[in-house]
Amino acid sequence: MIHIIYEFCKSKLKIFPTGPVNLSEALVALTNDVFCRVAFGRKFNRGGDANRLQAMLVEFLDLLGTFDVGDFIPSLAWVSGLNGFNARVRKNVEELDACFERVIEEHIQCRRDCDDRENILDVLLALQNDPSVGVALSRDSVKALILDMFVAGTESVHAVIDWAMVELIKHPETMKAVRDEVDRSIETGEMIKEDDIETMNYLKMVVREVLRLHPPFPLLLPRESIEEVELFGHNLPSKMRIFINAWAIGRDPESWEDPEEFYPERFTNIAVDFKGKDFELIPFGAGRRSCPGIHFATPMIDLAIASLLRHFDWDLPEGRTGEELDMDEGTSGHRKSRLLLIAKPRLG
Ligand code: HEM
Repeated sequence: MIHIIYEFCKSKLKIFPTGPVNLSEALVALTNDVFCRVAFGRKFNRGGDANRLQAMLVEFLDLLGTFDVGDFIPSLAWVSGLNGFNARVRKNVEELDACFERVIEEHIQCRRDCDDRENILDVLLALQNDPSVGVALSRDSVKALILDMFVAGTESVHAVIDWAMVELIKHPETMKAVRDEVDRSIETGEMIKEDDIETMNYLKMVVREVLRLHPPFPLLLPRESIEEVELFGHNLPSKMRIFINAWAIGRDPESWEDPEEFYPERFTNIAVDFKGKDFELIPFGAGRRSCPGIHFATPMIDLAIASLLRHFDWDLPEGRTGEELDMDEGTSGHRKSRLLLIAKPRLG
């Protein structure tokens, strides 16, 4: 992960020395590269397989966020057959399945020829053949686990880094304070390592504030009540679909002073964290269903932001100011607009 982020700053972003960088697009590519390396042990060719996988994941998420009337009124499920929704779902599932099938076959072939690689897919394939595991892991389960990780991980991580850069552009004094902290912690050298970010407390407060205001899963994942329950005077029947509004919880004036303000310093005086123990801040959910990827996501976000600030000065094009940035959110917790910035290399 560290090398991919470093390479991203050293070579990928430097090819735009004068014109604006579409940072949002670059961050999607960065997170996909990291996940492909972790899951499959290699990056996909940019422009070829990588773009196709990216497009399939975007379509998958779009379908996931589409209102399917049959989910809510079962007698109207036929509508999805008429309006093309079912056909889109089938096409997307078939394409993803074929892509993962190809990668799995390549891994099986490679494991026969060379056994010095270890990535998540290798581990899952090894578990399939391990009788001591005690659970039968089918080929479909392996594909589902990989898909789960890509969908839950890539979209959320790049959305948070994107929002962080937006807030830092809007608040130049905060950006300067984070950069000063990064420069102090690194002193010499260019590549930032996980140990380096341990001491970057202000950066961590900034990320916490970004997650409070812009949780990438604003409604977490849907739940269903398993039995009838009374909650704050309301009777909830069993089998009811329940959404938890983490976005509103993060902006609740009863928990947060000036909740709409981006103010990372608030965390100097309050010990509220996002790990699921403090219910005022639950961008990763809470309880048994909470995000299993939190310990992968947080160092990646910290490393990416620290590296972007260490390697570049960032400005809006054409003398625009942060105040002019559009802060509208899409349905999925992403910012609606793409972030276009001028990146001036700092380290030669
Ligand atoms: C900033 C980054 C991330 C955020 C904010 C986030 C947040 C969440 C949330 C809110 C949920 C649902 C929890 C609930 O409903 O209580 C979830 C589920 C999940 N997350 Fe993350 N996540 C992030 C990154 C990741 C990463 C990097 C991975 C994988 C490496 C990952 C893997 C998963 C998986 C597999 C689930 C589904 C669990 C289930 O099916 O119950 N997440 N995440």
